[in-house]
Amino acid sequence: MSCHKKAYITTPIYYVNDIAHIGHAYTTIIADTLAKYSRMIGLDTFFLTGTDEHGQKIEHSAQARGKSPQEYADEISASFKNLWDEFGISYDKFIRTTDEEHKIGVQKAFLKMQERGDVYKDVYKGNYCIACETFFPKSQLINEEFCPECGRATTLVEEESYFFRLSKYQEKLLAWYQEHPECILPKSKKNEVIRFVEGGLEDLSITRTSFDWGVKLPKELNDPKHVMYVWLDALMNYLTALGYGTDEKNIDFWPARVHLIGKDILRFHAIYWPAFLMSLDLPLPKHIAAHGWWTRNGEKMSKSKGNVVNPKEVADAYGLDNFRYFMLREVPFGGDGDFSQKALIDRINSDLGNDLGNLLNRLIGMSTKYFEGRIECARVSDFYQAELAEVDESIAKLEPYLFEMQLHRYLEELWRPLSVANKAIDRYQPWALMKEGKEEEVMALNGLIATILAKVAIMLSPIMPKTAPKIASALGFEINHASWSSLIVSKEPLSSFVIAPIPPLFPRIEEELLAHHEPDSATPQNKQESAAEKNSQSAPEPEDQIALIGIDQFFQSSLKVGTIVSAEEVPKSAKLLLLQVDIGEESPRQVVAGIKEWYSAASLIGTQVCVVANLKPAKLMGMKSEGMLLAAKDSGGLSLIRPEAPKTNGTKIG
Ligand code: MSP
Repeated sequence: MSCHKKAYITTPIYYVNDIAHIGHAYTTIIADTLAKYSRMIGLDTFFLTGTDEHGQKIEHSAQARGKSPQEYADEISASFKNLWDEFGISYDKFIRTTDEEHKIGVQKAFLKMQERGDVYKDVYKGNYCIACETFFPKSQLINEEFCPECGRATTLVEEESYFFRLSKYQEKLLAWYQEHPECILPKSKKNEVIRFVEGGLEDLSITRTSFDWGVKLPKELNDPKHVMYVWLDALMNYLTALGYGTDEKNIDFWPARVHLIGKDILRFHAIYWPAFLMSLDLPLPKHIAAHGWWTRNGEKMSKSKGNVVNPKEVADAYGLDNFRYFMLREVPFGGDGDFSQKALIDRINSDLGNDLGNLLNRLIGMSTKYFEGRIECARVSDFYQAELAEVDESIAKLEPYLFEMQLHRYLEELWRPLSVANKAIDRYQPWALMKEGKEEEVMALNGLIATILAKVAIMLSPIMPKTAPKIASALGFEINHASWSSLIVSKEPLSSFVIAPIPPLFPRIEEELLAHHEPDSATPQNKQESAAEKNSQSAPEPEDQIALIGIDQFFQSSLKVGTIVSAEEVPKSAKLLLLQVDIGEESPRQVVAGIKEWYSAASLIGTQVCVVANLKPAKLMGMKSEGMLLAAKDSGGLSLIRPEAPKTNGTKIG
């Protein structure tokens, strides 16, 4: 880290078609943590967030509410900004793509790309998903019509368009991934991107003519019917926020230290964005870090499903810092996480209450009882050298974890010093030492605990920015660059002080504090969406970090052996087969499976398969699907998982 004096940290800019949910809060809280840490260690930091306000999706949302797109964007953009302000998010700039400077910057970039010979005019014919604001070639569509990402119907577009020569950058992009092993984090996600690019890049349509809620083309082109493709407009925010094309006073922050994003928008950031930057002859970002999805009961959150978790409600009920800690600790970066109040309560009561809060209480208790609150740290190393060494070893591991986005490991490691402190009390039994008259040893032990709490508070402060200073103030110091330098870098002892008793930081929570919102019943559109997600055996998502589950959770799924008794092709669908599978019930189960690319219908009849028998029924392309076949897919294709020897239909697997 030390070699880069500047740290430019960004979140995605959020679409203004919906208010913030915990997914948005998650990205923003991670970025805020990085920014706060960077500032504490003395980096010149610029933290950017904002809203993405153009495009057909926003235009439609505004129309549906009888508002002008600008009016609507103003409203939702303000709701994001207010929430981040309330959450104490330390952004240096909140950009809106409707800002005049941004539009000017985007137009300048367009001209520059054109000067470089990377832009040409042609006709675009293909399918467009408005919800994903993405063009898809026919070959990628489900049933030649539905979006492979969200399952919604796409629209056929045929219009004049300017194109960006993305194909020209294929090799350069591959070289970049190769030469910069950490350009995409977690590293495993990079392979997905490489495979996609190796599959061949088509030139990208970068303007639209069928609507006008977007950045106009530069006047020089005299082509007023075109507006910029929303992703070109949006990605450029990372540069225009620094003044690109207008007042370039912050442009030295480029290149970004890290673009934090969700895994759903990795391709835009890892392929289009570096290609645009290459065209603009600008350096590429150091890291593009893609996190996983927060789900609710295993389902994607969306307003229409009614299962969205409101971050403000959670923070109000459980405390903002506790919520921040939970989000970063609970899920390995890159993996998906399911939000539950129970898990949040466990983290608060156990990690925060027992391990951290009680330690501070014990210290307050002991020092008040034995020494009227006085704590001296000068002689800690005379008695507790081994403990100090163990603590410093853990603290030294933290920064790399943070900048590699391994935030859960950062917090896990940060809890080791707390365990050293708690164990030391149990082991040395200060009450017994006092009886033996070993006051110096007890004072040093208190000093050890105070030192540990002080170091932990400093390193925890970017994640828990309100709570950590309370711990520091009880210990008679302030968290800032100077205390970080002396206590963490130089490992100097904490100065003597009189401890200030404070109320318990993490009162125990006995029951869930938020009422349960049961998801609304799914609309047909949602059913199709979730069916596409659940049944998309043709596109399994490789997970980097697999969450551990208990055996009881595993047995919640009912896996059974079955025989395919009939199989037919779904008309017009390139991927789907309609199967009837006998799993020992009265009548066979109907399963719609995306396996046509690998199996012909005829070849499946009479063969045995493994079926997930207790999935909620879903509809896929209008057909009910009452189960899922187990299959494994790698670069060699997809194989169904079958019993090694024939088994009676309905035999339980597990
Ligand atoms: N406007 C684009 C980003 C343009 S950046 C140049 C966009 N906006 S979004 O509002 O739809 O999503 C913003 C971010 O929120 C994405 O990184 C997305 O992954 C994240 N999340 C949205 N829902 C999420 C969850 N349920 N869980 C975790 N993050 C998710 O995409």
